[in-house]
Amino acid sequence: MSNEDNKDGLLNKLDLRELYRWEIGDDELRKLEEWKKLPILYQLALDELKNKIKLIQSEWKIHNGYSPIEHIKTRIKEPRSILEKLERKGFELNVDSMVNKIHDIAGMRIVFSFAQDIYSLLEHLRQREDIRILEIKDYIMNPKPNGYQSLHVIVAVPLTLFEGQRWMKVEIQMRTLAMDFWASMEHILFYKYEKQVPPHVIRELTEAAKAADALDKKMHGLRKEIMGAAGAPLP
Ligand code: GTP
Ligand code: MG
Repeated sequence: MSNEDNKDGLLNKLDLRELYRWEIGDDELRKLEEWKKLPILYQLALDELKNKIKLIQSEWKIHNGYSPIEHIKTRIKEPRSILEKLERKGFELNVDSMVNKIHDIAGMRIVFSFAQDIYSLLEHLRQREDIRILEIKDYIMNPKPNGYQSLHVIVAVPLTLFEGQRWMKVEIQMRTLAMDFWASMEHILFYKYEKQVPPHVIRELTEAAKAADALDKKMHGLRKEIMGAAGAPLP
């Protein structure tokens, strides 16, 4: 396809110059196309990743007799939140910045029964060629000062498009039921107080996070006693 054809295709689709008689260069039009395409691509990346995780879940169940994952949630960041984040972090407000600087446009939260299984899944993800691990933040081993615990992993998953292969970033947050319970409550309270949480509430929330951690450790101990094995790795 020639450049002219390409340009015509672009104009036919958007028809912006026709419609508004704006002075928009081809470069801007291409950026608009990219802007329109992005949410779809991120959604497709989430769908692909979710399918991979579901397959792992089924295999795990067959192999170990139980499903390690309680539930999976996905979300795409709202354009307004993306722009706010770019602004807050001092990046330029354009599509390139979004793609390169914001790693959590596509987000997945996987909630597990046991903390140990989070690391089994991480180990499995590391070994796969169809998933690239870009960054790991381990707030389970190193909780945040307020007590927040989760394992955050930025991965890239490939999409096969007409234009070729494109790796899309997804932020995966992995946590146990107890960690999720705490994070959900903390989130609600934080917003209820409009981010001005009184010090005694912060202290008590941190105490509650420790209680959630103690619960996870107790369940881990019980599992060890009942199942015998220290872990239940993937086949
Ligand atoms: P941002 O991505 O800009 O928030 O900065 P960051 O990359 O340093 O953040 P981080 O990766 O530590 O956390 C990103 C996400 O984790 C947030 O958007 C929340 O969903 C979750 N998170 C992090 N800290 C907390 C916390 O203290 N409480 C709760 N409820 N969620 C948290
Ligand atoms: Mg982040």
